[in-house]
Amino acid sequence: MAWDRERIKELVEEKLKDYQIILVSNREPYMHIYREGEIDVIMPASGMAIALDSLMQTCGGTWVAAGSGEADQEACDGQNAVMVPPQAPKYKLRRLWLTREEEDGYYYGFANGALWPLCHIVYSRPHFLNSDWEMYQAVNRKFADAVLSEVGDKRTIVFIQDYHFALLPRMLKEADPRLLVCQFWHIPWPNFEAFRICPWAKEILEGLLGNDLLGFHLQYHCNNFFDTVDRTLEARIDMEQFAIFRQEKATWVKPFPISIDFERFAEMARAPETEARMADFRHRFYLEGIKVGLGLDRLDYTKGIPERLEALDIFFQKYPQYQRRFTFMQLGPQSRVHIPEYKALNARVDSLEEEINSKYRTGRWKPLLVHKGHLSHEEIAPFYRLADVMVVSSLHDGMNLVAKEYAASRVDNDGALVLSSFTGAGRELSCAYAINPYHPEDIADAIFQALEASPQERAGRMRAMRSWVQEHNIYYWAGRYLRALMHLPVED
Ligand code: F6P
Repeated sequence: MAWDRERIKELVEEKLKDYQIILVSNREPYMHIYREGEIDVIMPASGMAIALDSLMQTCGGTWVAAGSGEADQEACDGQNAVMVPPQAPKYKLRRLWLTREEEDGYYYGFANGALWPLCHIVYSRPHFLNSDWEMYQAVNRKFADAVLSEVGDKRTIVFIQDYHFALLPRMLKEADPRLLVCQFWHIPWPNFEAFRICPWAKEILEGLLGNDLLGFHLQYHCNNFFDTVDRTLEARIDMEQFAIFRQEKATWVKPFPISIDFERFAEMARAPETEARMADFRHRFYLEGIKVGLGLDRLDYTKGIPERLEALDIFFQKYPQYQRRFTFMQLGPQSRVHIPEYKALNARVDSLEEEINSKYRTGRWKPLLVHKGHLSHEEIAPFYRLADVMVVSSLHDGMNLVAKEYAASRVDNDGALVLSSFTGAGRELSCAYAINPYHPEDIADAIFQALEASPQERAGRMRAMRSWVQEHNIYYWAGRYLRALMHLPVED
């Protein structure tokens, strides 16, 4: 039987009815902003946030996250909480507020200046500063206090998201051993040789071993984690149960490749507004009779955006018949803008845009359109539908949910996915056109191959990818995770 919202609801009501669920992430699922003097709500550019929002809408509970919208404080009640989603409230969003200093040291500094490049093997060097590390510890403590203040007397599952909180599991477990603490690490876990350069490797591993269950996308990342622990700490690794035992405490480590709410994307893609917007975009961007390519990412150096644009240049040189017949749209907001590597990336994308357009542009036709503003999921849906080929060229990516969103959105079974082999999604979507994103010629050839494929081949590949994602959706992911949690031998 397929996993869907109802089945998760039944599982939670039947097996976890005595528990409350508290989810913790740095990025909040809803941000309040001011628009024309009124408070409005948007979802941030995070595949993780929209996927987990579907789940929390199903299970209910509390989501603890840092406030990041300019109107967030005004939208909250006296307890820093607001019910979401705004149109039909299903769960509580409890915000906490970080000072600029905390955000600089914890988010920009240690999480994204040290751990992010440490875990993604893209040849960007991590920066390890004592002051960032101290702030990372302090902010993990601040989140621990916020979570503990939500727990009360109820039996509680705390479900932590990502590398922003490597220390939080241990802090929570030490404060309240009754808590069932689990974490999902959304980015890759590197091999020991890469990880060992971190000056606080031991503390990070000890923090993570506060979890009862620790999830990665791939078995490969789990194996890297086992090896890292084995070579860093005194611990017993049990490869039969996939568990680590340290000082009487067990942590189960398992792969759970994350996914999306397939039906939510398929519905958005089918909506009449999407069809209307497609027609409008074709007209507005002069796309009549033009094939469309799409890239959609936060501007992040791990996503291989310059590599993709360099490949576009090669594509137009090598296949000149596509000049005036193909337009590539690169969409997605700027991200982590205070970090020098991100500033440099932003400038590189601008300069490639200028170079490619000045080289090939003729009349109304533009080879490349770049949009760096925020787009809602409803606004993205028509682009997914318009794209004859979508290019995901991450240099390294834990999963990449955009690839799965694209497949879910192709309700017409058309479109083609060019996908980096260095993504988690690349292990699952075997009917995509696989590329090595470090090799621009390879990307250019794959775009050509995808555009030239017969309608039957494109439909066959797309059907296979859609059916995989439909079955292995976010509810399937959650069902496996919750079942693994339920079977843990945890004390009352
Ligand atoms: O996928 C990794 C991740 O860090 C998510 O946890 C996060 O929501 C997303 O990338 C966006 O990054 P940020 O929250 O730093 O904008």
